[in-house]
Amino acid sequence: MEKGRSQLLGQTFSASSKREGRQQDQPHDLELFYDVHVFCCVNERPPKHRRGCCSGKGSRQLCDYMCRRAMALGLNRVRVNHAGCLNRCELGPTLVIYPEGVWYTYNNERDIEEILSKHVKGGQIIERLLLRPHEGPRH
Ligand code: FES
Repeated sequence: MEKGRSQLLGQTFSASSKREGRQQDQPHDLELFYDVHVFCCVNERPPKHRRGCCSGKGSRQLCDYMCRRAMALGLNRVRVNHAGCLNRCELGPTLVIYPEGVWYTYNNERDIEEILSKHVKGGQIIERLLLRPHEGPRH
């Protein structure tokens, strides 16, 4: 039986081998179009909105930076997309990476570089940026 996501947290996991496992588990012979899909919330709300917004914390520029860096690093099986509100606004800026379903917050280009090098390329969880499932309100 596959471990729950909460069981994966707190331990190093091999995102790349998990992705390869998924690929083999496909119920058809179609190859995945992307190995990794990163969704960055770029939602924008009016100033002083009670939940805040990721765009107001710089997510749009940092998401664009991540997209450019992924291309520059030759990660052509990785897609970085703008996303609407991911509903974890208070913890933002937020992004989520699939197929793992791992969430991060980030604040600057250094964080983005670390997410790309350690998680996307290296398959390692970055504890200091990780958003755990129990964190933040559920709306
Ligand atoms: S505004 Fe980014 S998660 Fe809601």
